[in-house]
Amino acid sequence: MRRGLTFRTVAAGSALVLLVGICFLILAESVQRLRVTGQRSDYARQVVLAVSAMRSDVSDLEAGLRGYVQTRNTDMLAPYASARARFPQDAAALARLCAPNADEAALASSIIEDTQDYIADYGATLIQSAQHGDASVRNSTVTDDGVQRINVLNNELDRLTSLDRARAVARNEAATRAANTAQITMTFVIGISVLLIVGFTVYLARVVVMPVRRAATMAGRLAGGALDTRLPVSGAGEVGDLQQALNVMAGSLEESRDALTASRARIVASADEARRRVERDLHDGAQQRLVSLSLELRLAQMADPPDVEQMRAALGRAAAEVTEVVDDLREMAQGIHPAILTEGGLGPALRTLAHRSPVPVEIEMVTHERFPAMVEAGAYYIAAEALANTAKHAKASSVRVQVDRGDESLVLTVQDDGCGGADYARGSGLVGLRDRAEALGGTLRVSSPVGEGTRITARLPVHLLSRGS
Ligand SMILES: Nc1ncnc2c1ncn2[C@@H]1O[C@H](COP(=O)(O)OP(=O)(O)O)[C@@H](O)[C@H]1O
Ligand SMILES: [Mg+2]
Repeated sequence: MRRGLTFRTVAAGSALVLLVGICFLILAESVQRLRVTGQRSDYARQVVLAVSAMRSDVSDLEAGLRGYVQTRNTDMLAPYASARARFPQDAAALARLCAPNADEAALASSIIEDTQDYIADYGATLIQSAQHGDASVRNSTVTDDGVQRINVLNNELDRLTSLDRARAVARNEAATRAANTAQITMTFVIGISVLLIVGFTVYLARVVVMPVRRAATMAGRLAGGALDTRLPVSGAGEVGDLQQALNVMAGSLEESRDALTASRARIVASADEARRRVERDLHDGAQQRLVSLSLELRLAQMADPPDVEQMRAALGRAAAEVTEVVDDLREMAQGIHPAILTEGGLGPALRTLAHRSPVPVEIEMVTHERFPAMVEAGAYYIAAEALANTAKHAKASSVRVQVDRGDESLVLTVQDDGCGGADYARGSGLVGLRDRAEALGGTLRVSSPVGEGTRITARLPVHLLSRGS
């Protein structure tokens, strides 16, 4: 099955839409990834901030304690107190931020526990002892224990920082990889789309634009009269159908022009033939008779002495000759254009034809309306030739002539009950009738099955003349 242009266009359009859709999906996916990466780096920044808050809490706790133990001045405890006050909030923030990752969460909870221990076990005991004037608080081992705890805490905070940093590096690498993949895929898809669009455009140009342009050129040539122009049928789908239709149209135009030329030539030839016949009939008939009549009269004039009886006989012959010449001339005039047709119309004219026919003719005038002179003359000559054919070829016992008013036309039917088998190819009469009907813009149909009689139907448009003139 040949695929239509509509199918091809829809298929190519769908492929393009699919590709562009994929392109946008990839773009959306990359944007989403970049957004997640942005969110994650925000989160990493918050972890760094929470760690440094914890670090400053730890260093304030240690600095406050150290200053107080060394000076016994309670004012020096201010950083310790403020760090203790900030600690619960900072610890909660760190725990929350580290919760998503197990290793960071474990490390954070150990930092929080160690800091709580530092405050509860070490800091509170040390302040209490110092307030009671306990000498051991100056003991360096006590403060060494504090320094050790602080070192442990700082180590844990360092580990947490580096864990977070390693995670951030891994995330950045993954984001870069995703961005690269997206970029490569996008470039690939856009490249294929461009190729597809270019290919489709070239295809459309070759399959639609060029054939249509050739068809337009051909239509121009046809309009200019070059009816033998044809197109190669190479287009796809509907364009191919168009090319074929144009060729068929050119073919039938050419055929009808040839038929028209041939029928014009036949009409001219038959007019010439009719003129020759009139000339021959005048020459062989009326002219010969008039010559012999004038001879007869001359002989009668020159008879010496005039014999009345002889004269009377000569005049009688001359009168008979004149009557015959008049009959000849009337018959000839009838053949050229019967006066009765102009005066009485088709009905009376057809009746005179019927009188002359050796086969009995039945005439049925369904309408008595008068038609334009050329239409009536056309119908008359068609009936005359059809009746002559019946007499000459049909061996019929009767023939029926009907005149009717059809749809905007005169319809003449001549039907005999003879042997049938009428054939355009075997003579010139029927072809002449068809030419006459077609010259008037009408049609002639001959139906003549062998053994079933012949039916000739002529349809002659009534308004042709007024339209043509
Ligand atoms: N009514 C008819 N019945 C039988 N045969 C007919 C009839 N009319 C025409 N034909 C046949 O068709 C042929 C063509 O007719 P036509 O063109 O009038 O030529 P023509 O009458 O000069 O022979 C005739 O030769 C005859 O064989
Ligand atoms: Mg004939």
